[in-house]
Amino acid sequence: MDFDLVVRNGTVVTASDIWEGCDIGVKDGTIIAVGPRLPAKPGVEEIDAEGAFVTPGGVDCHVHLSQVYEAGVDNIDKSVATDGLIPDRENYVADTYDTGTRSAVAGGTTTVVTFASQFKKDESIIPVIEDYHKLAKDQSYCDYAFHVIITNPTETIVEKEFPRMVDEYGITSVKLYMTYKPMRLRDYQILDVMYSARKLGITTMVHAENTDIIDWMTEHLEKKLMTHPHHHGTSRPPIVEAEATNRVISLAELMDTPILLVHISSAHATKHIREAQTRLLPIYGETCPQYLFLLADAMRKGDFEGAKCVCSPPLREDKADQDAIWAGIKNGTFTIVSSDHAPNKFNHPNGKQRGLQHGNLPYGKFRYIPNGLPGVETRVPLLFSGGVLSGRISPQKFVEVTSTNAAKLYGLKKKGAIGPGFDADIVIWYPQESFQPFNLTNEMLHHAIDYTPFEGLEFKNWPRYTIIRGKVVFSHGEVVGKMGYGQFIRRGKSLLPGPRDIWLSEWRP
Ligand code: URP
Ligand code: ZN
Ligand code: ZN
Repeated sequence: MDFDLVVRNGTVVTASDIWEGCDIGVKDGTIIAVGPRLPAKPGVEEIDAEGAFVTPGGVDCHVHLSQVYEAGVDNIDKSVATDGLIPDRENYVADTYDTGTRSAVAGGTTTVVTFASQFKKDESIIPVIEDYHKLAKDQSYCDYAFHVIITNPTETIVEKEFPRMVDEYGITSVKLYMTYKPMRLRDYQILDVMYSARKLGITTMVHAENTDIIDWMTEHLEKKLMTHPHHHGTSRPPIVEAEATNRVISLAELMDTPILLVHISSAHATKHIREAQTRLLPIYGETCPQYLFLLADAMRKGDFEGAKCVCSPPLREDKADQDAIWAGIKNGTFTIVSSDHAPNKFNHPNGKQRGLQHGNLPYGKFRYIPNGLPGVETRVPLLFSGGVLSGRISPQKFVEVTSTNAAKLYGLKKKGAIGPGFDADIVIWYPQESFQPFNLTNEMLHHAIDYTPFEGLEFKNWPRYTIIRGKVVFSHGEVVGKMGYGQFIRRGKSLLPGPRDIWLSEWRP
């Protein structure tokens, strides 16, 4: 057979099966054959998997890169933003497309879906999309696509620009925020977005937290000088996420449109999603490694170190929340596990240190700490090591939630599986018996961030090779791919169930 790459002797895993002693034949970047002892002509490149696990490349659909409108703080430093483009890479506090996608491939992720964020409240989304194309073009190590963050759904945007976003730009999902002052939408505005999304087959991602509870709690905690980083969690108990989750599920049911609840952190919100799914509503759930592997005590570290783990929704106090999220992965409540890679440097005045700049409290004020954690590189290895190798989930479930379901949910038709016709995006792991477990340090990672929230965690394996469209881009600890190899992917509509044409009243769109 006419291959240009053959991966030999792998334990190949898909979302449904495991084949031992299996080869993968690749031609022109596409998988064309899967099976034992594939015949190849002399001179064809071969990689011996040595019996190790071989899994589809990770698809991470929640990655913030080069995003100028950072979430979580009211005091946005607009000097870092110039017309949506980043002027000064050296002084930028987050990851750009080059550093973020370099980090992605080093952790076995082959496709990222990042956010093009409407920056000024009344701004057309078309120049925003164009700007993000400029930021990403020739900069990416892995394949990429965009969601659009909508902070002001004007009639022009939802009626005229949404159809262009889908047809001209191949973008079939939007993200909405129910919290964060500069970004949050009222329920009325959410319905405006959902109405148009339903017509166009757009998937709506929702950051569900009750903004008024957060504002009220923050004000009242400040009066009591309860402003340490861990009080970020105090201001947002699980009910904050659960109420907003339940509310937005109701809006989606009214509008008969699919939504994805992003970065779910608590048992209570998980229960609402599960209950909606049991009623066969097209409600999807996403969680992230930080809610599986970290708890709120990480925000209690001294010397302001707790700020490193400030994200929204917050890390939870109660291990029961963590257990419920693991259970939700196993029972299918969570469709995907994404990183929510939303990094801010720790030792930078515009990074996490912003939380120390207001007033003279030695432990700062949590409301000024930019929200978010880095995690694009650690997501796949954490789920493999702490999920599969620790016996919590099966290898097939790992593939389903880190790759296959993400590709299906977001219309990435050629991604997320090992099978004929799919892009040859492949991760080859180390044979388990030859791998020396290690404890992670930030120096091992490839992002531009000065810390990892997973410092010190033990990893029992790590991707040995990452392959994108048949090219090795990461091998034995080194990024060998080229910046600019990553391609923009126009996406189709979701391949998962959508509207059901079931209505709550005689009203129809
Ligand atoms: O704290 C978080 N998650 N920051 C990133 C922005 C978002 O809400 O996804
Ligand atoms: Zn969010
Ligand atoms: Zn996010």
